[in-house]
Amino acid sequence: MNYRHAFHAGNFADLVKHATLTLVLEALGRDPAPLTVIDTHAGAGGYDLDGELARRTGEAAQGVFRLMAAKDAPPAFDRLKAAVRKGNPGGGVRFYPGSPSLIVAALRPRDRFIACELREDDVALLNQTLAPFSGAKAFQTDGYGMAEREAGKGGRVFILIDPPFERGDDYARLAATMASVLLLDPEACMAVWLPLKDLETFDAFLRSVEPIGADLLIVETRLKPLTDPMKMNGCVMVVANPPEGLEEPLADACRWVADRLGDAGGKASVWRTGM
Ligand SMILES: C[S@@+](CC[C@H](N)C(=O)[O-])C[C@H]1O[C@@H](n2cnc3c(N)ncnc32)[C@H](O)[C@@H]1O
Repeated sequence: MNYRHAFHAGNFADLVKHATLTLVLEALGRDPAPLTVIDTHAGAGGYDLDGELARRTGEAAQGVFRLMAAKDAPPAFDRLKAAVRKGNPGGGVRFYPGSPSLIVAALRPRDRFIACELREDDVALLNQTLAPFSGAKAFQTDGYGMAEREAGKGGRVFILIDPPFERGDDYARLAATMASVLLLDPEACMAVWLPLKDLETFDAFLRSVEPIGADLLIVETRLKPLTDPMKMNGCVMVVANPPEGLEEPLADACRWVADRLGDAGGKASVWRTGM
């Protein structure tokens, strides 16, 4: 496994993913019933944008640095911006919160958080992030398997699946995990991150999950036209069983990312399937 999220932390794709994540958590948190959150690919928990790995790509310069400097960012980014400010009490944007940090910030005492990560070094960092939270635990294990084992045990569940897509079978495992989880728990809320390189790959993924029959919210951001399939031209969040009220704020967020961080020909669209 070569992928390390520290190279990409705070880039445009993190902004879209983390705006979606915080809005889903906010909506699910309105229901008083306990919630179990599973982050199948948790990463390190948080990232030092001044560190060697982040500086090597400089991706945050076209992401969170622009977001934090902007005067016109839509409200969908408010929770992410608040988390960035909290992580940098002296000002500036050095530390960027990963998905586990954003999840623990939204947890209530009755909720549980299961964070899975395969890399030993990132699990050690993740343990530090989660240590203050009694309801949160990190596991060095395959996150797809964990999601399948936990689903159907009862209670409300939200699963974030954010694979590195460095293996040829990530799309197939993603679709298989969505199918298994939703078979065991048809009401589970799942949010899945996908890169957008070419439309064929994304369409094939959507066709592969169509037989599940789930209500899907598709949150798509293109930074540029999809003319070069070797590049990450955009990204998509697919949310199964989405809470109400996400379309408008997420459309605003994606439009902002496409307009402010993208090239000519960027675009944003948010739509639902299975309705
Ligand atoms: C895109 S990063 C996660 C970023 C994180 N979700 C965030 O938003 O801050 C993907 C992570 O998944 C880990 N990983 C890869 N395959 C995995 C698997 N099968 N189960 C659990 N973690 C895995 C990688 O080591 C990497 O740290």
